[in-house]
Amino acid sequence: MDKSRNLSARVDSTTAAAILSAGGICAFATETVYGLGADARNADAVLAIYEAKGRPRFNPLIVHCANSAMAETLVVFDDNARTLAERFWPGPLTLVLPIRPGNGIADIVTAGLDTLAVRVPAHAMARALIAAALCPIAAPSANPSGTLSPTRAQDVVDGFAGRVPVLDGGACISGVESTIIACRDGAVIQLRAGAIANQEIEAALGRKVPRAEKGSPVAAPGMLARHYAPRTQLCLDVDNPEPGEAYLGFGPLPGCNGPTRNLSPSGDLAEAARNLFAMLHELDALGAGSIAVAPIPETGLGEAINDRLRRAAER
Ligand code: TXA
Ligand code: MG
Repeated sequence: MDKSRNLSARVDSTTAAAILSAGGICAFATETVYGLGADARNADAVLAIYEAKGRPRFNPLIVHCANSAMAETLVVFDDNARTLAERFWPGPLTLVLPIRPGNGIADIVTAGLDTLAVRVPAHAMARALIAAALCPIAAPSANPSGTLSPTRAQDVVDGFAGRVPVLDGGACISGVESTIIACRDGAVIQLRAGAIANQEIEAALGRKVPRAEKGSPVAAPGMLARHYAPRTQLCLDVDNPEPGEAYLGFGPLPGCNGPTRNLSPSGDLAEAARNLFAMLHELDALGAGSIAVAPIPETGLGEAINDRLRRAAER
């Protein structure tokens, strides 16, 4: 690998803001995964994100805001959305809400929908970047479409072979993408399991929050069966790996003689979420024949972890 080119992909925060203000694209850390950002009002800049990722144009982007006030200029909040924003922002919650007409966001961001996904990230460098760039930032995860999500600056450098500038904000502390909730006319639906467990959303609203059904018109267009995928085949719910097979454990490890990582030796789901993509990247790089993954409980953050693992295992 060409290390000098990799190093040149990293930029400082002043440069990152200048790139975004000038209509360029730049990757940056959030608390969930790294995002690949562009000025959400600039159609050419946003188009460059789709091209860099090889992302299908029907898959809309999340717009990152410096605060709730910026988000209010872009979308129309109902009472449920306001409750959730007050409870979870800044943080790993994305709200899909009706577009506020004339909000200036490029049509390509929403892929023709009449809703827009907005979030206020918690990562201090991300918020400072949005404030410095003086614009809402459209940003999908900073990985080529369909591949493992990036939770470290080096994942972005490697994923795009050093061709995308990256503002390095360290390892992402949540490690799985934001939870996506759609609110409309009093209805609330979970579109994607993520870094905030559904029970927490339900507790904040004091009501049940159903998951979007497959193929429903409100479902997130990007929830493809195969996604977040390593090159190596994944086998899920494996208690005892085959000899020589790579193993991604959770809790006490069985006897293994292949390469091994443990998402959380103590069985902590937040730790497992934080480690998920980094450990998959590491095991994938070893070129084993397959990667076996331990069973993960479906409770709390386990819903998001299992969602990512199932899509990663799909062939
Ligand atoms: O944590 C995250 O959410 C990260 C960081 C960078 O913020 N971003 C992220 O973006 O995961 P991306 O593009 O990988 O996933 C966005 C998801 C896609 O499944 C997309 O279809 C859905 O959000 N989405 C965006 N706008 C939508 C809309 N108006 N209605 C329904 N789904 C939408
Ligand atoms: Mg993504």
